[in-house]
Amino acid sequence: MDEKNFYLDTIEQIVPAQREQIMTAFYEFLELEHLYESAAEIVKTQLGIYDNEFSMKFQRNPIHSIESRIKSPQSIVEKLQRKGFPVSAKSAEQHLTDIAGIRVICYYIDDIYAMAELLTMNEAFQVIKVKDYIKNPKPSGYRSLHLVLTVPVCMSTMTRRVPVEIQIRTIAMDFWAALEHQLHYKTSCEVPPSLKQELLECAETIALTDMRMQDIYQQIHELD
Ligand code: GTP
Ligand code: MG
Repeated sequence: MDEKNFYLDTIEQIVPAQREQIMTAFYEFLELEHLYESAAEIVKTQLGIYDNEFSMKFQRNPIHSIESRIKSPQSIVEKLQRKGFPVSAKSAEQHLTDIAGIRVICYYIDDIYAMAELLTMNEAFQVIKVKDYIKNPKPSGYRSLHLVLTVPVCMSTMTRRVPVEIQIRTIAMDFWAALEHQLHYKTSCEVPPSLKQELLECAETIALTDMRMQDIYQQIHELD
């Protein structure tokens, strides 16, 4: 039995008045998922267009890979509760900007800013938040450029503007973030300060290597 049918079957066993309320909430969350999935697809398609155009002009791709995820209903509920907001699909739309998340992994640091500029300049998108954790890394050592854009999703009867969180980073930044994330979130114990310091130093070494690779690329490019 798939997840949707499992929930529907469970709901069948609840008293009618509550059942109706739960069914409404269920379909509202399903609609939300569809809306945010569509918004993420639009951004991914646009990024693919930029990547192809760049590759035709400069004979290389700026984007290594793209990942995306839609926040699960469970994580949405958890986050709303954590932040003290009402729990409903409407409340999620009002208060959360990371229901649709896209991670763009680029080759070089300059590629990150090139992609961010193209997205920002695109008149279909509206920038609502920019956080540059490359120029201002987090205390953990985390580096990435975060954008929140609103994207127009044309439905049959109306156009909805939907926020999408975009994290743009290099392969090197992604390598560090993936390992650090796993270390923090997959262990139940608190990471001791000495190890946090070591992780921070790793992030700095990686950032230095990223800059050296960028420099090597530029020097080779100038020889051409
Ligand atoms: P949230 O409520 O967690 O969304 O915080 P926020 O709205 O202040 O967003 P923030 O700019 O901190 O970025 C949130 C996302 O960036 C997280 O969900 C992670 O994917 C990523 N991120 C932020 N800090 C770190 C970090 O120290 N390590 C790793 N691995 N990822 C991070
Ligand atoms: Mg988040």
